[in-house]
Amino acid sequence: MYSGSALSTQGITLERHILEQQLAIPGATGDFTGLFQQIALAAKVINSRVRSAGLAGILGLTGEKNIQGEEVQKLDEFANNVLIRSVEAGGHLCVMASEENEGIVRIPDQFPTGKYVLMFDPLDGSSNIDVDINIGTIFSIHRRVTVGRHGTEADCLQRGASQVAAGYVIYGSSTVLVYSMGESVHGFTLDPAVGEFFLSHENIRIPPKGKIYSVNEGNAQLWPASLRRWIVDMQTPKADADGTMGTPYSARYVGSLVADFHRTLLKGGVFAYPADKKNPQGKLRLLYEAAPMALLCEAAGGAASTGTQRILDVAPTSLHQRVPLYIGSREDVAAAERFLREE
Ligand code: AHG
Ligand code: MN
Ligand code: MN
Repeated sequence: MYSGSALSTQGITLERHILEQQLAIPGATGDFTGLFQQIALAAKVINSRVRSAGLAGILGLTGEKNIQGEEVQKLDEFANNVLIRSVEAGGHLCVMASEENEGIVRIPDQFPTGKYVLMFDPLDGSSNIDVDINIGTIFSIHRRVTVGRHGTEADCLQRGASQVAAGYVIYGSSTVLVYSMGESVHGFTLDPAVGEFFLSHENIRIPPKGKIYSVNEGNAQLWPASLRRWIVDMQTPKADADGTMGTPYSARYVGSLVADFHRTLLKGGVFAYPADKKNPQGKLRLLYEAAPMALLCEAAGGAASTGTQRILDVAPTSLHQRVPLYIGSREDVAAAERFLREE
């Protein structure tokens, strides 16, 4: 397991940390470190473009719609291409899937293939790009389950519980990459002066209960009454043990999953994107939004549920399938599930 000795005055780089974490996994090869380095490189390139998008003329829409029927932002497309180009030649992957591509993304024939599967949301929070609010990139890594040179959709449709690793990059006041291999969660902050991610959040643990809830209450009239009762319960001050009036939860909603989840992971509380009359399966995608965040959250001691089922147990049936998501502090997610059972 990670020894924690500082590499230098600046601390531990992402590469060193992955290597040390990987050495603890029996049978692990350097493959994994190489793949992570390529993902980190893509994050640095996307980060540099995000920071100058307004100047580089890549704000705004491309005029196209993606498989989700959503307007494609120029930065969505840019980030998608950067991620694919950064990892496709490395020989670590047999197949990829992306929010921005309808079908699986094949490894071009001129490149070797490998034993991993990478799925990603290249730019999460697209609606916030043009208003300079935090956005991010989310990724999920599985081992392949098929044989042969190229992977197939079956390699992508695996339960979240079988992820080898998951992580996200948040392009915020600083650029932070958070990842887990399932046991522990660590955060690395990009030092733009040297272009390296250095360990800044070692062994992140989410509090068992928080005081913040995060949901788009604009959808409240589309929710079942049980869900509205859950929100009202968190808005209702509870008397403390000595009878003094307690404080209600605070509401925080950024509208970028990466930003809302990062705050929930560090401060505790609960984020929810429920199913509603408009989105009967919820809005967020299982493979490259809910499942990677669920791996991170459980590894940090939290919980992630569809409201009735553990996210990591959901058996995927299609690349872009959506699931309702309740994720965060264990006690807060359990409370949501309790209210939802009281239809
Ligand atoms: P993306 O930009 O990758 O499509 O993801 C947007 C998602 C997620 O980031 C966020 O939690 C959610 O959309 C916000 O949806 P609403 O605007 O409907 O609240
Ligand atoms: Mn997204
Ligand atoms: Mn996206």
